[in-house]
Amino acid sequence: MDTLMGKKIGFLGCGNMSVVLMSSMIQSGAVDPQQVWASNRSPRKLENAVQSLGIQKAANNDELLEKCDIIVIAVKPQDYHEAIEPIASQFEEDHIIVSLAAGISLDSMKRLFFKSSNLIRVMPNTPVKIGKGVLGLTCAHSAQHLLPLMENLFSGGGYIVKVEEGEPFEAVTVGAGSGVGFVFELMLYWQEWLEEHGLSREEARQVTVQTFLGASELALQSSSLSLDELQRKVVSKKGVTAAGLDSMRELEIERAIRYSFEKAVLRDRDLGKS
Ligand SMILES: NC(=O)c1ccc[n+]([C@@H]2O[C@H](COP(=O)([O-])OP(=O)(O)OC[C@H]3O[C@@H](n4cnc5c(N)ncnc54)[C@H](OP(=O)(O)O)[C@@H]3O)[C@@H](O)[C@H]2O)c1
Repeated sequence: MDTLMGKKIGFLGCGNMSVVLMSSMIQSGAVDPQQVWASNRSPRKLENAVQSLGIQKAANNDELLEKCDIIVIAVKPQDYHEAIEPIASQFEEDHIIVSLAAGISLDSMKRLFFKSSNLIRVMPNTPVKIGKGVLGLTCAHSAQHLLPLMENLFSGGGYIVKVEEGEPFEAVTVGAGSGVGFVFELMLYWQEWLEEHGLSREEARQVTVQTFLGASELALQSSSLSLDELQRKVVSKKGVTAAGLDSMRELEIERAIRYSFEKAVLRDRDLGKS
């Protein structure tokens, strides 16, 4: 059951995330471009993906369902119901349905895809593009047996974390899916401050990127040390870093970040309701 051989994977919606996932699946060798199909509302993005990735084009969503075994629903949450309702009855019992949409719960999926019990949610982030992403994975109880297949399909994209639906999946959605956006926000502050203090735009960008990359790589390669311990190695008593960190703590940066994460969780829930 966990082999992808002979299986056809259909992307319903051929936007940014589909292209990123399709490339990672093809580049990692998990699937051949001949196994990958896509449909899209407007023609241009689909044509581009067909040209650049060598995937197969479905004339419409109906054809995608006819041709494919695994259907990846990759439309925006706002477009979800409009896309699925007209074709809901054409999903077969043995279709494997993978939803990327933020906010759309497994319960909502059960109502929409009433024939199939092979329901899975995946929450990727954009570094999947370079094989360094995080992909949150959760599934209906009836689809547990499909997890190895999903790992085979998505593991080229990066680190897969299997979690329960509800709070843990929301946390991965915000911490990793949106998290990339939050990290870039911090990187922009770094870069701007460095520029204001005399570095060129390019130097400021490089220093920022290398600092984030270096810290992340160091943490990755020092798995026996906690993040706390790694941080302590940078801080000497009454030193430069300590002065900055004291100030960060006084200004309650953690509170601001937690508050922002909670706001993002609320938006994730709203998307599911709308
Ligand atoms: N981007 C991320 O970082 C990220 C991360 C995690 C999860 N996701 C999830 O991934 C999903 C896709 O996001 P995205 O950023 O890739 O959005 P996107 O670039 O806007 O792609 C969505 C695509 O769906 C197509 N579409 C809309 N309605 C359709 C329909 N009825 N039939 C066929 N195609 C239809 C759109 O076609 P048009 O060309 O006509 O607009 C568009 O190309 C979302 O649910 C999002 O929550 C995204």
